[in-house]
Amino acid sequence: MTRSPSDRILILDYGSQFTQLIARRIREQRVYCEIHPPALSRAEIEAWNPAGIVLSGGPSSVLDEGSPDLDPAIVELGRPVLGICYGLQLLAHRLGGVVEKADDREYGRALFKLDRDDPLFADLPGGAERVVWMSHGDRVLRLPEGFVVLGTSENSPFAAVRHATRPIWGVQFHPEVAHTQAGSQILANFAHRICGCADAWTMEAFIADATARIRAQVGDRRAVCGLSGGVDSSVAAALVHGAIGDRLTCVFVDNGLLREREREEVEALFREHLKVPLVVARAQDRFLDRLAGERDPERKRRIIGHTFIEVFEEEARRVAADGRGPVEFLVQGTLYPDVIESVSVRGPSATIKTHHNVGGLPERMNLALVEPLRELFKDEVREVGRKLGLPEALLGRHPFPGPGLAIRVITDVTRERLAILRRADAIVVEEVRRAGLYDRLWQAFAVFLPVQSVGVMGDERTYENAIAVRCVTSVDAMTADWAPLPTEVLQVIGTRIINEVKGVNRVVYDISSKPPATIEWE
Ligand code: XMP
Repeated sequence: MTRSPSDRILILDYGSQFTQLIARRIREQRVYCEIHPPALSRAEIEAWNPAGIVLSGGPSSVLDEGSPDLDPAIVELGRPVLGICYGLQLLAHRLGGVVEKADDREYGRALFKLDRDDPLFADLPGGAERVVWMSHGDRVLRLPEGFVVLGTSENSPFAAVRHATRPIWGVQFHPEVAHTQAGSQILANFAHRICGCADAWTMEAFIADATARIRAQVGDRRAVCGLSGGVDSSVAAALVHGAIGDRLTCVFVDNGLLREREREEVEALFREHLKVPLVVARAQDRFLDRLAGERDPERKRRIIGHTFIEVFEEEARRVAADGRGPVEFLVQGTLYPDVIESVSVRGPSATIKTHHNVGGLPERMNLALVEPLRELFKDEVREVGRKLGLPEALLGRHPFPGPGLAIRVITDVTRERLAILRRADAIVVEEVRRAGLYDRLWQAFAVFLPVQSVGVMGDERTYENAIAVRCVTSVDAMTADWAPLPTEVLQVIGTRIINEVKGVNRVVYDISSKPPATIEWE
């Protein structure tokens, strides 16, 4: 590699659950990085031209046949390399050291003692000792020739090492996890001091670059974008609109399963405030008629998915026939975590949510995809949205499932049940906001239960529906805890729903966590 290095870092993913965190920590230092599978060839790496390379942790053992490997030629490139956990063991194993299987796993907090000054540990707050997070089975028994020890822990005599003359570092602990004190500073040192990266990765720089790329891709042709009202599609639309102006038309499908005032808010923001050409498909009846009588959650999802594609396709064809020229592109708000899931060592993941993609449409209509957020994490997308002037209320919005309120009516969906649920849901959100809790919760919503129970209102016996209130905290929706809302807040929510929503005489609070429950009831 004779070219001067770029300002970006390559992360080779050996399958650790923390690999995404490495990327996020490095980007927080304003240094761009990407995660790639370890099978990347030397030529591909040279073409990518990284300023440095991080080898992630991983669940395998370097001693096992077929475990993901490292091409020693990568180390020969002369660019700084940092091996983390499995990455360190791989370096040791491949460069002539000895790795052994340990009888017991070292897992959790460990006290790390720095024995030797090094740029990797420059400017760390505190003294020579700090808490780090370990999670490994195998351990390095003997270092390859030329390596020196930088620091130790009780169970790891090689907790941090480097080559005496070549730019190769390794740490047995995980600097990327929050439990490692000053872990971010260690990664910052690697990126800035060791690899020499400038802090050039800012959202302003991203917007300028993405705008140029969108212009280059779309040229003077036209694009459509499916707006869901959520953060990702809204930011993608705003970004593309900034790049190609009115050659972008957004399509918002009102499926009749939206929350209170949702369509009006999307219309007001995009059409009036951002002046983005917007088509609203009022397809409520088509969705609700097809859902009539359907109780099975998965069949509801399928009906909604198929109908969505059908409606979107009709609208996109209408846009294409409006006399302003053909439409050749479809804008999607795909984010980096979706991209990584499909390329990392774990292989294509089944968890990618197809309902967000307008399944099959690009091929059927011969549309090319524009995915301007493919490199971004969710918090970066919010930051871009902020810079583009999208309101905080939109950027901080809780996730809302594609099938909408249909999977929160725990029986067949009727217009009457939807009306009850919509009002109850608005009360939950209003009160959670009023209590200042909205931003601390992952989701807060109401669920319509097909249970009728006896109550008394005034002097009258009632026999009406129940509403469940669900509030959860979570970091990624993979797991979630029910949120212990203050009693006063629960009290107001219960009273208001029963008093204000006709057809409800009982409100219950859901105290199940995920797993074993899920966030949504269906
Ligand atoms: P669960 O219920 O599986 O939900 O714990 C995890 C997260 O995913 C959302 N969710 C969906 N989102 N289409 C979506 O777009 C769906 O069919 C769907 N089902 C669940 C849910 O709101 C939560 O944030």
